[in-house]
Amino acid sequence: MGKAAESSKGLVGVMQAFLKGATFQTTRPQKDKTAAGPSTEKKAKAIPWVEKYRPKCVDEVAFQEEVVAVLKKSLEGADLPNLLFYGPPGTGKTSTILAAARELYGPVLYRQRVLELNASDERGIQVIREKVKNFAQLTVAGTRTDGKLCPPFKIIILDEADSMTAPAQAALRRTMEKESRTTRFCLICNYISRIIEPLTSRCSKFRFKPLANQIQEERLLEICDKENLKYTKESIAALVRVSDGDLRKAITFLQSAARLNVDKEVTECTVIEIAGVVPPKMIDNLLQICFKGTFEKLEVTVRNMVDEGYAATQILIQLHEAIIEGDLTDKQKSAITEKMAVVGKCLSDGADEYLQMLSLCSVIMQQVAQNN
Ligand SMILES: Nc1ncnc2c1ncn2[C@@H]1O[C@H](COP(=O)(O)OP(=O)(O)O)[C@@H](O)[C@H]1O
Ligand SMILES: [Mg+2]
Repeated sequence: MGKAAESSKGLVGVMQAFLKGATFQTTRPQKDKTAAGPSTEKKAKAIPWVEKYRPKCVDEVAFQEEVVAVLKKSLEGADLPNLLFYGPPGTGKTSTILAAARELYGPVLYRQRVLELNASDERGIQVIREKVKNFAQLTVAGTRTDGKLCPPFKIIILDEADSMTAPAQAALRRTMEKESRTTRFCLICNYISRIIEPLTSRCSKFRFKPLANQIQEERLLEICDKENLKYTKESIAALVRVSDGDLRKAITFLQSAARLNVDKEVTECTVIEIAGVVPPKMIDNLLQICFKGTFEKLEVTVRNMVDEGYAATQILIQLHEAIIEGDLTDKQKSAITEKMAVVGKCLSDGADEYLQMLSLCSVIMQQVAQNN
């Protein structure tokens, strides 16, 4: 116990240093960069495109009109309720609050007024008690160094708040209430159901919608132009397809694809390769063996797929699609998908990929056999 606590303390230290560094390095130079024109930049300052093309003001956040409208109203009044952003990954939650904070405080004050915590290790109950509390207790003035008015409170951003333990969330609740004069909280999470009710009831809730394909395409095309990439319509469509609504994923894939080819050409093939999608032929083959083959054959095929390095979770997703669309009876489908749910859970708990896949495929085999 003592040892664990000690090592987690060390970790917290490292994370703090990391977070501090990250906040300044990623948000600051980015600003200068766009002013200078990104395409003329030297390669030396390579930053991930997700950071480089993060919206800089709330107006640049696409597709979340309702959220932006309400948030802007709050910004005008220079008062902000406690916020809770929720929705799927890569839809602009972090970007929105960072942009809002920057608009409120300007680049200088931003550093003093905004505390951003976004790794799950950072937020045991101890950290909430000490770090958040200490920061929350500092009182602040209502003017900026450049004389402009700014709100007399600080903002604490707790990204991925749904990974906080319930006791830590409860500790936060007290702090939130006690420091309401000087501090606003912004909780960000994917699953609102994992936030305890006393916290959700203290925040204005904002739901972020999954981004429409067209919006994603537009953003990707914009980046392609700014980075002088060669692309085809199909490759952009493929990017959107493989990243299911997660623009961060799509942008990251785009950057990898651009790096992979010498002349900055993004092809559909590279996209699919990078995304780690299992070739449809392989999935078909696997299913055929489940339908008609023997268990021995199945063993070999599954072994091969896992050895080829395809992620079991990816195989699972694609098998799921194939099964749902395939022509089995509803009863068979429901038995198989139920097994898929169990396998998915086991995989996320760190179970052996080969065994899980084999177990799933044998259920498919069994179901098919039963009906014949
Ligand atoms: N609504 C949006 N408008 C513009 N860009 C977006 C939007 N959502 C996501 N992005 C892009 O995706 C990246 C990740 O967004 P982020 O705000 O970190 O997502 P989240 O916090 O919701 O997971 C950003 O760098 C940005 O370029
Ligand atoms: Mg985020």
